Amino acid sequence: MIVGVPKEVKLDEYRVAMLPVGVEELTRRGHKVLIEAGSGTGSGLPDQDYKDAGAEMIGGPEEIFARADMIVKVKEPQKEEIAKIRKGQVVFTYFHLAADKELTDGLLASGSTCVAYETLADDQGRLPLLTPMSEVAGRMSIQEGAKYLERPQQGRGILLAGVPGVAPAHITILGGGIVGANAAKIAAGFAADVAILDINMERLRYLDDVMPPNVDCLFSDRHTIREQLTRADLVIGAVLIPGAKAPMLVSREDLGRMKPGSVIIDVAIDQGGCIATSKPTSHSKPTYMVDEILHYCVTNMPGAVGRTSTFALCNVTLPWVIEIAQRGIENAAKDLRPVARAINLAGNEVTNKPVADTFGYNCSQRYKVA
Ligand SMILES: NC(=O)c1ccc[n+]([C@@H]2O[C@H](COP(=O)([O-])OP(=O)(O)OC[C@H]3O[C@@H](n4cnc5c(N)ncnc54)[C@H](O)[C@@H]3O)[C@@H](O)[C@H]2O)c1
Repeated sequence: MIVGVPKEVKLDEYRVAMLPVGVEELTRRGHKVLIEAGSGTGSGLPDQDYKDAGAEMIGGPEEIFARADMIVKVKEPQKEEIAKIRKGQVVFTYFHLAADKELTDGLLASGSTCVAYETLADDQGRLPLLTPMSEVAGRMSIQEGAKYLERPQQGRGILLAGVPGVAPAHITILGGGIVGANAAKIAAGFAADVAILDINMERLRYLDDVMPPNVDCLFSDRHTIREQLTRADLVIGAVLIPGAKAPMLVSREDLGRMKPGSVIIDVAIDQGGCIATSKPTSHSKPTYMVDEILHYCVTNMPGAVGRTSTFALCNVTLPWVIEIAQRGIENAAKDLRPVARAINLAGNEVTNKPVADTFGYNCSQRYKVA
């Protein structure tokens, strides 16, 4: 199979969809890998490393889209990329189609087979290609929070760890899933005073078992959230209700309970956010102030740490790239249920029910998993 990796073109996107080791693994199985020159630069991966691993370096995206049987990417195809996608071509990337009708319609018209990282689910319902990005965002939320609590960044001027004789910061984490647990782990390592809130008692029991003593695991209800807001220097929004908009846990009025200069990092912003005053921001202007509370609501946090995120993403995508390349997409979908679940569109048809339902389209049963 010819596998093509174009350079990402979305704003603020520094990741690349394949590492040199991926090129080597594919070429030694007899596949050909086309890499657009400069694709790895944002992640500190020079072209020469790809060449040494056996890739054919290509000057621009046209030739890659024209020759590849399968395109492997990071972000959803942008307008100029959709125009280059061919009928029958497999495109393996993040799509988040339900959030974008224009993108869905454009790809439907292309007749390509769109295999989405975000719906590649195992039999337990886990989403192994989403997990690493939640790990990155969770850990990064504390790093960003520490920075924005500094006075020159308009924060309260608080050091997370405190010092002997001065109390550490209090950090409240709303949601104890992948993002929340990773945030708590890093916050605890900073010696901050941490509270993590969730509504899932099983999850709270697990967190209580594995977290260090400076992390309190609390049930998430209105009263506990309000009480936490009065204490918090830093609030992390990390809730998720699968397939739905994030629940609104902090109203504008609630901001009045917080200390001026406190910071909110609403990681859940990509699902609408769990703070009433959250609105999406970008890495070039990540923060804004509402009622003296500094808000950080960047929708693609992992993009800023492109190198770490590239490695974290490619580690989990490569085995699936290899499976599809070895078997071809039809056999891969027949043999491997996660692949069948990942196919959102194929040959001008929608094959994923939530996407079809969102736009009122018919859902083809072609890749339905029994
Ligand atoms: N901004 C970014 O760059 C970025 C990156 C990665 C993930 N995310 C987002 O972060 C959010 C969390 O992702 P995740 O992987 O941790 O999800 P997850 O499913 O692992 O965890 C979500 C947790 O929220 C809990 N929850 C639901 N309702 C709650 C409530 N009312 N109070 C407290 N907890 C509640 C759930 O029980 C669950 O444990 C998602 O919206 C995800 O899309 C954003």
